[in-house]
Amino acid sequence: MNSRMSGSEKALADLACDRIEDRDRPRLLIGGLGMGFTLRAALEALPDDAAITVAELVPAVVDWARGPMADLFDGCLDDPRVTLVVGDVSAVIAAKSDAYDAILLDVDNGPGGLDRDANDELYNASGLAAARAALTPRGVLAVWSAAPNDSFVRRLRTAGYTVEEHGAHAHRPGRGARHVIWLATRP
Ligand SMILES: C[S@@+](CC[C@H](N)C(=O)[O-])C[C@H]1O[C@@H](n2cnc3c(N)ncnc32)[C@H](O)[C@@H]1O
Repeated sequence: MNSRMSGSEKALADLACDRIEDRDRPRLLIGGLGMGFTLRAALEALPDDAAITVAELVPAVVDWARGPMADLFDGCLDDPRVTLVVGDVSAVIAAKSDAYDAILLDVDNGPGGLDRDANDELYNASGLAAARAALTPRGVLAVWSAAPNDSFVRRLRTAGYTVEEHGAHAHRPGRGARHVIWLATRP
C-alpha cells in the first residue's frame, strides 16, 4: 500500500458503483480499508441514502486512519453512511444473505500471490458461493487484483457469475502498472 498509487483502487469503486446506480438505498460492502481510496471514491459516487460497510482486519490500519493519516482520510470514516467493522470481511459476508448490492474486495494482491493464506477462502469456490449468497439479485462482486488470473475467472463462472474483466492503471488512466478488476454479476 502507498498513498501515491490510487488509480485502480478508485476504479474499483467507480466501476462497481456505476453498476448499481439504479438501486434505491444502495448497500455496499468494502473489504478492506487500506488507505481509504476505494471508500472515498464510493462515497463520492453514491447517494445520501447509501449504506457502506467497511471491514478491516487489522486494528492498526484503523488507528492510522484516525491518527497519523487522518488528513488523507479527510473524515470519511465519520460519514453517516459508513459503518466500520474491525474484523475479517469473510465473516461479514457469511453473516448475511441478499444484503449487498455490491461487494468490493481489495484485501490482498488478488486471488493469486496472497499475503495472507486465509484470504484464499474469499476466492475459492466456497468463498465465491458465500459472496453470491450475500449479494442481492444482479448484485456485483468486484475484485481487485495485481495481475490477470484466468483460473480465477473460470472459478467465478463456475460459481454462477457473469464476468467482465477491466484493466485499471495504478496512478491514473494510462500511467503506472496495469491492475485488473473483475466485475462478477449475480444473475
Ligand atoms: C491493499 S489494502 C486496500 C487498499 C484500499 N482499497 C484503498 O483504497 O486504500 C488491503 C487492506 O485489506 C486488509 N485486509 C486483509 N485481509 C483482510 C480480510 N480478510 N478482511 C478485511 N480486511 C483485510 C489489510 O489489512 C489492508 O488494510
